[in-house]
Amino acid sequence: MEIKTLESPLGAEVRGLDLAAPLTASEREAANRAFAENVVLCFRGQRFARPEQFRAAVLNLGEPMPPVTATYRLPGFDEIEELTNEATDRRTGDRTPLRRGGSWHTDHSNLERPPKATVLHAIEVPEEGGNTEFTSLYLAYEALPGDVKEAIRGRRAYHAYLSRRAPRKLLTRTKEEEADSAGCWQPLVRLHPDTGRKSLYLNPMRCDEVEGMGREDGDALLDRLYGHCDQARFQYSHRWRPGDVLIWDNRCALHQATFDFDQRKRRYLHRIMLRGERPVPAA
Ligand SMILES: [Fe+2]
Repeated sequence: MEIKTLESPLGAEVRGLDLAAPLTASEREAANRAFAENVVLCFRGQRFARPEQFRAAVLNLGEPMPPVTATYRLPGFDEIEELTNEATDRRTGDRTPLRRGGSWHTDHSNLERPPKATVLHAIEVPEEGGNTEFTSLYLAYEALPGDVKEAIRGRRAYHAYLSRRAPRKLLTRTKEEEADSAGCWQPLVRLHPDTGRKSLYLNPMRCDEVEGMGREDGDALLDRLYGHCDQARFQYSHRWRPGDVLIWDNRCALHQATFDFDQRKRRYLHRIMLRGERPVPAA
């Protein structure tokens, strides 16, 4: 097993580890340490004979949780979701492709306990394009000017399932799913439970309001933070190969899928989210 840190502000690759086989305690510990240190971790060349094996592999990294909407659940599996560029909102019958994940976000920050991480297994991916991009919210926080750090210190933002400001649509929820995924207030700066580092915590798909600020000022602050986060010096772009198992830390990273490839080609991955904790505000 070899862990290679990438030539980018975040991300590492694991080679020589077969996730379809049980890991030793030291392999598991090394993988989890590399995940904590690098925010994004890719295990290359993984093959699973059955989806159960993907789920079993993911247990080395955390506890799976079901997706918020059941629309793209893999038949027969509670926690595995199918991710495809052909996705539409099946419940409304609208055939417009949804481009799921196609703008900056962190997964399900509207939940009181958002998923700590998301894991994808690439089954079919385009040879060129279709990368997933990541922004380190540790680095973005650390690089903020002092006056902005001061302006957001101790503040919270309201995360809705779908913000009035979101740049794209999301899957329609059933009434029951709506009740299970209502919005909540989250700290704008959070403390990572494993690393103790501070990071920004925000979501252009979901943030609706900044606590204690009027709409105009709150929107201006969020836009300034979003613009700040969108800088190459905080980012890594993952070029997929079939067999990649990639985990990212939702607590300290934004991510987005890209759709810069021939959309007649299929991009198909399996996704499992891992349970997280209630975000701890940074002092
Ligand atoms: Fe996502």
